[in-house]
Amino acid sequence: MRIEELDTPAVVVDWDVMQDNIRSLADYCRKHGIGLRPHTKTHKIPAIAKMQVQAGSKGITVAKVGEAEVMAAAGLDDILIAYPVLGLSKLDRLAKLARERKITVGVDSMEAAEGISEAAKRAACRISILIEFDMGMHRCGLQSPEALVNMARRVEELPGLQFAGIMFYPGHIWDLPPDQFPMLLEVSQKIGEICEKLRQHGLDCEVVSGGSTPTAYNSHLVRRLTEIRAGTYVFYDMNEVGVQACRLSQCALKVLVTVISNAVAGKAMIDGGSKTFSGDRLISGDKTGFGYVTEHPEIKFVSMSEEHGHLELSPSSYKPRVGERLSIIPNHVCACVNMHDQIYYHRKGIIEGMWTVEGRGKVR
Ligand SMILES: Cc1ncc(COP(=O)(O)O)c(C=O)c1O
Repeated sequence: MRIEELDTPAVVVDWDVMQDNIRSLADYCRKHGIGLRPHTKTHKIPAIAKMQVQAGSKGITVAKVGEAEVMAAAGLDDILIAYPVLGLSKLDRLAKLARERKITVGVDSMEAAEGISEAAKRAACRISILIEFDMGMHRCGLQSPEALVNMARRVEELPGLQFAGIMFYPGHIWDLPPDQFPMLLEVSQKIGEICEKLRQHGLDCEVVSGGSTPTAYNSHLVRRLTEIRAGTYVFYDMNEVGVQACRLSQCALKVLVTVISNAVAGKAMIDGGSKTFSGDRLISGDKTGFGYVTEHPEIKFVSMSEEHGHLELSPSSYKPRVGERLSIIPNHVCACVNMHDQIYYHRKGIIEGMWTVEGRGKVR
């Protein structure tokens, strides 16, 4: 089947572009001696996670226990849940997983660590712990090296746990790659400070887990980093194009849509809105629009209803006809994929298969 024969809206991945993205970051990490532990929240598809592992990733990252269960059931191992796990039901599922797989959890509170310890004790298993530090995003993470060291010492005492190191997410760094240097230097210094303080208390910081897609190819500037958790790099999106983390040609995923109306002067409607693309606004570049119309970049994707995408045609003289098909690069690919049960993949326009987004909806 050719791409043109797919019913729309449909999410389609260019296999070759995705493979290049996977290979390229794996090669970079190998060259710099940094581990790669891709965040699979971008695709939520075990088959793609396996390709990342095959390309050299040491393991994978997920956000939720449910996503870890999906990946583990498909045979993946060495899974970092980069998200605090709380609540008896999740903790028991976590411990069950940890009996069969190497599981690490990122936490920033003793409440979370104690809950995981209790569950590990009940299940007679061992769970590795990374303590999260806030490098500037101000979402999660301890606020001072002293607080982190205190917590690490207490975690070491808890049965069933092993303090493995630290994690951080530099999600506050959305500068162009050449401008990231001062912020990454600050991150390096903070890591150095934390590792030194841990060492003074006889604690080894074996793992320093960081990384993001905008900073991915600058990871060698961060000293002592042992692994990065970039996720979006597998497909890229308009947010990453806007911050110059990639070129348009590296965007592996597009949403195929059909023009369903051109009755209103100066506008055209497509058959995908916020329930197809997600409502995420562009957070980089000129911060306008909801996606990039690849066939006619001059057309602006200006707003969305749930099931309608609103294209503004001016200044173009081009008027898409009803029934015409367009392909759009979404702003935020992770949120877009999460709206779909299946995504297709093609090579040179020929659909070669389809993946089920198995981790979709696994929010617990
Ligand atoms: C904790 C954590 N690690 C890694 C990532 C991956 O970052 P990126 O989307 O820049 O690839 C995310 C993204 O949300 C995250 O929340």
